[in-house]
Amino acid sequence: MMKGLKKWRLFSLLAGLTVFLSACTGEDYISTLKPAGEVGEDQYDLLIFSISIMTLVVVVVSFLYLYAFTKFRRSKLGDKHMPKQVEGSHTLEVIWAVIPIILLLILAVPTILSTYKFADVKAMDEVDEEGNKTALTVNVTAKLYWWEFEYPEQGIVTAQELVVPTNEKVYFNLKAADVKHSFWIPAVGGKMDNNVENVNKFWLEFGKESEGLKDGVFYGKCAELCGPSHALMDFKVKTVDRAEFDQWVAAMQATEGQTASVDSTDLGEATFAQSCLGCHAVSGVGTTGAMGPNLTTFGDRNRVAGVLEHSKESLENWISDPEAIKPGNLMTGKYSELSPEEISAVADYIMSLSVEK
Ligand code: CUA
Repeated sequence: MMKGLKKWRLFSLLAGLTVFLSACTGEDYISTLKPAGEVGEDQYDLLIFSISIMTLVVVVVSFLYLYAFTKFRRSKLGDKHMPKQVEGSHTLEVIWAVIPIILLLILAVPTILSTYKFADVKAMDEVDEEGNKTALTVNVTAKLYWWEFEYPEQGIVTAQELVVPTNEKVYFNLKAADVKHSFWIPAVGGKMDNNVENVNKFWLEFGKESEGLKDGVFYGKCAELCGPSHALMDFKVKTVDRAEFDQWVAAMQATEGQTASVDSTDLGEATFAQSCLGCHAVSGVGTTGAMGPNLTTFGDRNRVAGVLEHSKESLENWISDPEAIKPGNLMTGKYSELSPEEISAVADYIMSLSVEK
């Protein structure tokens, strides 16, 4: 009776765990278990494949254990029973050395093939008859605690929100401006380190448009502990079809020469020109390496400072006290002389910056 009860308890625990764990596949805008695109899918397949092999090992070993446990009980065989002695058995030694080697080989072959495939960036340098690069390349520079995205062939630059076309390989040059970071879009692929001393290259393919996702974007993360605000070093990825991407590029290129004027009658623009323009550009053309994030597309973004709700109120809070939101960021203390009125006007001005509206 007690035995039967225990068995049922175990069964219900396992059943409960199964239901719980099956809900752990997560959301499609951020989960590696819901991949979108070739790299993410291949990485997911590898994951499932290795887990299957490990599960097989656990099942076989558990079975052998339980078999020995029940078959050779003292109560069955008596105190005098002496099991067959297998010390120094060549057959057994060969079996338990060879089986793991075979399993490791089975795991190694697809892993190595994928590793080389993901690192194959030869197409980055291919050009058409006119000498233009045929593949889209994005230079990603990670900084404390934000991301700069430069499109060298298109001559444009943006920050915090990467825009890419779907269903084609996008090549990335990854580097860091200060300390080591790591570029990761969980649902699409990665991670790869952004280093200060060298450029890492890889490619990703974005398998679906982000419009249908919860916030209309994929979530990107910094995956290398880089300082007190490491966990807040988020970026977003907007994936659109090729035609829409070309439109976006043209709109970005059209912002060439755009700037803020200290003589503007708009208090926000004048204050921005006075206090912010030294670090933040408002033209998407030819302005890499700026101290702060390029703000040309700020009004189109999904978040303020990568993590806050995209509203004027968040932006005012951020400008007034960035340290309270992202400890250790480089903007802290830069805008403490602005009055609440000026902050409100600057926030209005920055929210109005857009290439999509
Ligand atoms: Cu950058 Cu963690």
